[in-house]
Order: sequence, then structure tokens, then C-alpha cells
Amino acid sequence: MGGKDNYPVDREMGEQIRAFFPEIVDNAVADRAFLVRAVTHLAEQGVRQFLDIGTGLPTHNNTHEVAQSVAPESRVVYVDNDPLVLAHARALLTGSEKGATDYVDADLRDPGAILSQAARTLDLSQPVGLMLLGVVNFVDDDAEVRAILDRLMGALAPGSFLVISHPTDDIDHERAHEVATAWNEKGTPKLTIRTAEGIRELFHGLELLEPGVVSCSLWRPGNTEVGEVRPVAEYGGVARKA
Ligand SMILES: C[S@@+](CC[C@H](N)C(=O)[O-])C[C@H]1O[C@@H](n2cnc3c(N)ncnc32)[C@H](O)[C@@H]1O
Repeated sequence: MGGKDNYPVDREMGEQIRAFFPEIVDNAVADRAFLVRAVTHLAEQGVRQFLDIGTGLPTHNNTHEVAQSVAPESRVVYVDNDPLVLAHARALLTGSEKGATDYVDADLRDPGAILSQAARTLDLSQPVGLMLLGVVNFVDDDAEVRAILDRLMGALAPGSFLVISHPTDDIDHERAHEVATAWNEKGTPKLTIRTAEGIRELFHGLELLEPGVVSCSLWRPGNTEVGEVRPVAEYGGVARKA
């Protein structure tokens, strides 16, 4: 994706993953382009605060860069539980002078800790864009996921949004499970693939924006794309809290 905050060992590992899962390149690029379109849309709707959980290593078009390119006063809190992301967090804390960025070292499974630390930077009485890109898939238990989402969205003001991207077996069931099985043999954290219906369920109780839960490459694709946009096995959606 064009990031530079990684080590040779990360790149070597990336090549090993690409060897058994070449589609990961298209998926990652489509996921990042989805982040850009979703954050831009929310910023254009007036959202000025973002809580991005499962941030990942800093790369190209990080949430604060996209949000602050629309509204420089945007405030962004990043959350991850990986010590290496924490080590690179400096690169994420380079926002505009008018806005603010913060980094919280916490686990998605502990939404209370995330909310209390995010409140240092975000005004939770005002709308927040909650970004959960490629991270809900690291919590296997559906009831636990439901409890986490209810806790997080319950604490956010009306007019807040939930943005999720999640790997799916909707496009090629066999291939998706083959890749997940290969990853789960050695990789951590363990990966859970969900059906399209299972991903739609994550937005329960919220107003799902058009076009609903679709391949993230097909979520409001821009008209600057050349040729046909291909679906990827990573679905995405955006929903609003009434
Ligand atoms: C696939 S990356 C996604 C990165 C970024 N959101 C994106 O879409 O490009 C998943 C990230 O989630 C983090 N993560 C995994 N499980 C987590 C958890 N339980 N709590 C917080 N972060 C977690 C990982 O450390 C990793 O940085």
C-alpha cells in the first residue's frame, strides 16, 4: 500500500503470506481505498471525530490524513493491541495543528478501556466515526462481538457512524476457508471468516447506508476508476446511529 513504517522481517513475512494468498494484495488495496471513501463521506457529512480500532502499522492514507484533508480540525484516536504498532505510533501522530491525534494501546475486547482513554481526545457527546477495518475478524465468538459493538456504539452520540470491513466467504467459499485454515495453522491472532449475512448482522440496530454490505471495492466506487471494479473477498459497510 506504499507504507514505509515496517522492517525487513515484516516485508519478508508479507512475501511469505503473499505466496499462499496472492489475493491479499488486491484485498488490502481495496480495503484502504474503502477507508478513504468512507472517511471522506463521513467528513463531508460533518463528522469531525474518528475512533480507529485495529489501526495497523502506519501506511498510506491513514484515517487522520484523509479526515484532516477534508476538515483540518478533525480529531482521531487510533487503537491497536500490537506492540509493534505502538512502536510505530509516532508516525500516526503527525496530524494538522488544528486537529488532534492520539494513540491508545488497548484491546478491542476491552471497549470500556478504549472509551475512557479515547475520551481524552474525543468529545463523546458529539458524533464519532467508529472504524473497525479488518479487526472484528480477530474475535471469533459472535456473542462477544455483539457485546463489544453494543458497548462501543452505545457510548457514542446519535449521528455517529460505524464503518466495518471484514473478510467473507461469500465470493468463493472454499478458497476463503482454505486461506483462513492456512493462516490459522501458524498465524496469530486467529482469523474468522464471516458470511455476508454474518457481516450484515454486525450493523444490527443501525441505519445501513447504500449500497449496504458489499465488496469494499464496490462500496460507492469513484467514477475515476479505469475499467471494471472487481469484487474482493473483503466486505464493507457504513451505518449511522439514529
Ligand atoms: C488486518 S490489520 C488491519 C489494519 C487497518 N485497520 C486496515 O484495514 O488497513 C488488523 C489490525 O488489528 C489489530 N488487532 C488484532 N486484534 C486486535 C484486538 N483484539 N484489539 C486491538 N487490535 C487488534 C492487529 O494488531 C492489526 O494491526
